[in-house]
Amino acid sequence: MSDIVKPTFQPNREFAKQARIKNMCEYNDLQTWASEDYEGFWGHFANEKIDWFSPYSQVLDESTAPFYKWFVNGKLNVAHQCIDRHLATRKNKAAIIFEGDRGDKQIITYLELYYNVNKFANLLKNEFGVKKGDRVVIYMPMIPEAAYAMLACARIGAIHSIVFGGFSAEALKDRIEDADAKVVITADGAYRKDKPYMLKPVVDEALSGNTPVQKVLVIERNNEEITWVSGRDYSYNELIKHQSTKCEAEVMDAEDPLFLLYTSGSTGKPKGVQHNSAGYILWAQMTMEWVFDVKENDTYWCTADVGWITGHTYIVYGPLAMGATTVMFEGVPTYPDAGRPWKMVEEYKINQFYTAPTAIRVLHKMGEDEPAKYDLSSLKVLGTVGEPIDPPAWKWYYEAVGGSKCAIVDTYWQTETGGHIVSPLPGATPIKPACATFPLPGIIAEILDPQTGEKVGVGEGGYMCVTRPWPSMIRGIWGDPERFVKSYFGDVKKDGKPVYFTGDGAVYDEEGYITITGRTDDVINVSGHRMGTAEVEAACKKHPNVAEVAVVGKPHELKGEGIFAYIVLKSEDTMAEEMEMVKEINKVIIKEIGNIAICDDIVFVPGLPKTRSGKIMRRILRSIAKGEVITQDISTLEDPSIVATIEVKVKG
Ligand code: PRX
Repeated sequence: MSDIVKPTFQPNREFAKQARIKNMCEYNDLQTWASEDYEGFWGHFANEKIDWFSPYSQVLDESTAPFYKWFVNGKLNVAHQCIDRHLATRKNKAAIIFEGDRGDKQIITYLELYYNVNKFANLLKNEFGVKKGDRVVIYMPMIPEAAYAMLACARIGAIHSIVFGGFSAEALKDRIEDADAKVVITADGAYRKDKPYMLKPVVDEALSGNTPVQKVLVIERNNEEITWVSGRDYSYNELIKHQSTKCEAEVMDAEDPLFLLYTSGSTGKPKGVQHNSAGYILWAQMTMEWVFDVKENDTYWCTADVGWITGHTYIVYGPLAMGATTVMFEGVPTYPDAGRPWKMVEEYKINQFYTAPTAIRVLHKMGEDEPAKYDLSSLKVLGTVGEPIDPPAWKWYYEAVGGSKCAIVDTYWQTETGGHIVSPLPGATPIKPACATFPLPGIIAEILDPQTGEKVGVGEGGYMCVTRPWPSMIRGIWGDPERFVKSYFGDVKKDGKPVYFTGDGAVYDEEGYITITGRTDDVINVSGHRMGTAEVEAACKKHPNVAEVAVVGKPHELKGEGIFAYIVLKSEDTMAEEMEMVKEINKVIIKEIGNIAICDDIVFVPGLPKTRSGKIMRRILRSIAKGEVITQDISTLEDPSIVATIEVKVKG
């Protein structure tokens, strides 16, 4: 480990050695340290936490801002950080505990993980010719092989791009093409609610026609019949038998890309968010330690899917980087009943449980009394992520699940931030229900007025920004540097300099606590999944009878936000045909994006509220969808009378 960059300011406690921040004094000390000696702070933690192959020469290079470089010239390997370095002390410790949909179980120790990942890495390298820098798409269910695939890519320096298994063939195809991927790793399928479902046919469809993909690796999970394309498709179960358990970890530069993850923006197609090696893994590990306070013998469970950033950082990379035991679950939390998660908490003696508010709402609604049937006394920290949590869900989580004794960490972050940026620290931050509280130590984040760039006052509301680069921040949008600069550094300037804008609004209370108020752009949050209204609109337009469409979010009791589409048809239809049309349009959406983008409401309207320059006034449409009284000035619309017509249609 290097000790090349010595911090100039030394705190009076050995913070880096303890994973816990015990109180707000320690929090304040750390924030003071970061603000007085930013590079010293980060250099100190990088030295403490990362097992460098060779030292970095500079902590932060801002010369090509906003294309920041962290830990310049440092060499490491993320798979080594997550596995090899633990072998001396944790080889027999459970790295992954897997529970399948049907209750099948596997415990994978760090030593077994090491062998499995090495074999997987050798397979990719030797059988498929995957090299450092190649892109590999992973389209997988929640099985341990998904984690092996990620770590195998990291081991040989390939850049993985996981596509959530709920996305359609079209969506998969777009992501494969944008990343110019050479290999796809998938499974025949998996199990959901005790029944097999399929993934491989979706891959086949995505690869029909021209494709950059040369090889497909298929993990046989449910052994249902699938089509094999000769010379392209290979069975993992067969090939893995012949691989060596030794595979040298590739020496990676701190700034070599680790993965791409496509996420929705306010316009256009999803963007390939790029995360690089050292900064990402450092913050994944630090936040894992600080926010979840995981002790050596703890068992931690995050219910996300590896297809989203939460699964990347807080099922695989964060827990393994710190040497923790992480639970992976293939099934559905409400199957066979809404007591499933609590049964698992009891069985595995889970200490930290991390999920989305949508899951909490569903579990509450479907099984209010279920937690009481199980012994949940092992729980210490409960986390939420992905969307605001409403007070009733929070209260039930705190009382019924946490027994009014667990800290609840409402973690605010995004695909682009790599890890948490605003979150309580368990046991240290006095919590307030449904409040993300304060920026984590090292994160210099403020709510700014977009016009003046000044910090907003109490209760005023403004834009949630991060005013200094941080190690795990997005490094770019794959293949589109201009879009990167425009998307994140175009809206807010502080002291004349562009700062990172999250796209979220937020507000301070009188004690300086931060509450996230939601997106300020045309991105909606459905069950904690981010969806661009532009993407849903583009899908709707693929229907031959759709002339115009505007999609907005509408509060939804369980999903947080639902999708509401206003559609102008090319030919006017009768009521009966309209109902048929709703089904047809949703079918097109499923084909183009997947089930997650199905519209909750589709209303056919004769026109949309547009300004004279043709811009659709979405704010008006959002208000109508919510059933609010229209207070906006509509006199500037091309046809103000359309507002009343739409209101009647929606109420009808
Ligand atoms: O609007 C914020 C919301 O989710 C968005 C990020 O979505 P995604 O990149 O898919 O990552 C989700 C998992 C980190 C944010 O811009 N969001 C995330 N966490 C919270 C939240 N909104 C309120 N409270 C949160 N704790």
